[in-house]
Amino acid sequence: ESSTEVDTAAIEPGQAIKAVFRKQPLFVRRLTPQEIQIANAVDVGSLRDPQTLEERTKEGHADLLITMGVCTHLGCVPLGAAEGEPRGEFGGYFCPCHGSHYDTAARIRKGPAPKNLEVPEYEFTSDTVVKVG
Ligand code: FES
Repeated sequence: ESSTEVDTAAIEPGQAIKAVFRKQPLFVRRLTPQEIQIANAVDVGSLRDPQTLEERTKEGHADLLITMGVCTHLGCVPLGAAEGEPRGEFGGYFCPCHGSHYDTAARIRKGPAPKNLEVPEYEFTSDTVVKVG
């Protein structure tokens, strides 16, 4: 199976880019310190799909959130990875198909989606380059 390389160096805090991984959209987002704080302040036990931001990022790279851009409800592409798109009530991603709201760790917080946006397998091959898959 094919992998995808993404250079994250140019992604500014608060910005995201869309890439493609195995023919599906992939979101690569640099969180701001405030977005990290907000994610870490959540009571994980209250979440539908309980995961910490730490579990969803790599050690030393808590600001780099890499997820599939595929809503876990029925597979639409959520908004929020491109400039100016709405990010929903929890500041992460918003799926307009049936109104799922994801938070700054791309965890499902409101709406019909059952799971957080999927974090694919990936590794850093340098300080800034990640190899997904
Ligand atoms: Fe995203 Fe239904 S596909 S809310």
